[in-house]
Amino acid sequence: MKEVIIGGVGKYAPSKIITNDQLSEIIETSDEWIYSRTGIKQRHVSIGEDTSYMASEAAKMALENANIRSIDIDLIVVATCTPDMYTPSTACIVQSIIGANNSVAFDISAACSGFIYGLDVAKSLMKSNGYNNALVIGAENLSKSVDWEDRSTCVLFGDGAGAVVLSKSDNVGLISSFCKSEGEKYKCITIEGNDVDSPFVENKVIKSSKLKMNGNEVFKFATSTIVNSINKVLNENNLNLDDIDYIIPHQANVRIIDYAAKKLKVSVDKFYMNIEEYGNTSAASIPIALSEMWEKKLIKKGNKIILVGFGAGLTYGATLINWAI
Ligand code: ACO
Repeated sequence: MKEVIIGGVGKYAPSKIITNDQLSEIIETSDEWIYSRTGIKQRHVSIGEDTSYMASEAAKMALENANIRSIDIDLIVVATCTPDMYTPSTACIVQSIIGANNSVAFDISAACSGFIYGLDVAKSLMKSNGYNNALVIGAENLSKSVDWEDRSTCVLFGDGAGAVVLSKSDNVGLISSFCKSEGEKYKCITIEGNDVDSPFVENKVIKSSKLKMNGNEVFKFATSTIVNSINKVLNENNLNLDDIDYIIPHQANVRIIDYAAKKLKVSVDKFYMNIEEYGNTSAASIPIALSEMWEKKLIKKGNKIILVGFGAGLTYGATLINWAI
């Protein structure tokens, strides 16, 4: 068995929902502004649920869906830009919660592209290290990192987690993928972290622990990246959009997805969207969408699906999948 398939999917979103109208009670905004500029109506917000908890709930659902025990997992990759702690990794905490005692566990920091990076890394390790089963999880607790007084960012994000079980197979599941970074644009989206207050540094270095984003710059990057990434995956596999059943883009903004559909001259219906309900859940957005599509029985064995992500770093990437379950 030399190939890798997605054998199960799962998701978790906190039960607490904050609508646009509720936000307009705490900051100067409106449902009309948020919905028309982004397509977002509401977002799920963690009330004390850690990233590791949400990740574990999604992982448990994916394990059940794949019919695999946690002790049979060899590798856990958690993609997150909002880990519980700087160290240990959120993946190690997930390992402890779900009792995946036989696995190696670590995090990936690639923000909204994290799940695409996670699939790529997990597939490579499974092929090179002989691992049979892996969990790749995208999980975010962005509500703890947004500035709730900054209306230009806090309305955009939500919390949640999505997970897949990858398993070795004779069938091809993860057909091809690529990941890229443009580090020179790292200042476009930042969560800086802790102040530096060391006896060896003369002046305390103040950092912002809140998310800051140059929305217009990221918008330009996202619109070109989403189109180029889809074209790159199609070209590398000698396919065209008629061969693709669905595209699952990172759920950042409906306007970015509408632009991509127009530019690619394809119906926007080919793009799965749930941003209206969840907002932008960063690394969690693609696996949440995948899991939701599976629950709704939208995807069938043999479907070809492109996953495409872009985000802080700046980072981007795409994966072509043959749905094998
Ligand atoms: N409510 C009301 N007005 C607002 C709000 C709000 N919530 N936010 C901003 N405004 C105002 C601004 O102050 C500005 O007012 P002004 O013209 O008087 O100065 C006006 O609305 C227009 O602001 P813009 O920033 O130009 O609005 P735009 O239409 O560009 O939309 C947005 C902003 C939604 C952030 C868009 O730029 C975007 O989607 N960017 C991409 C984000 C993205 O893709 N992120 C993905 C990565 S995230 C990650 O990796 C963690």
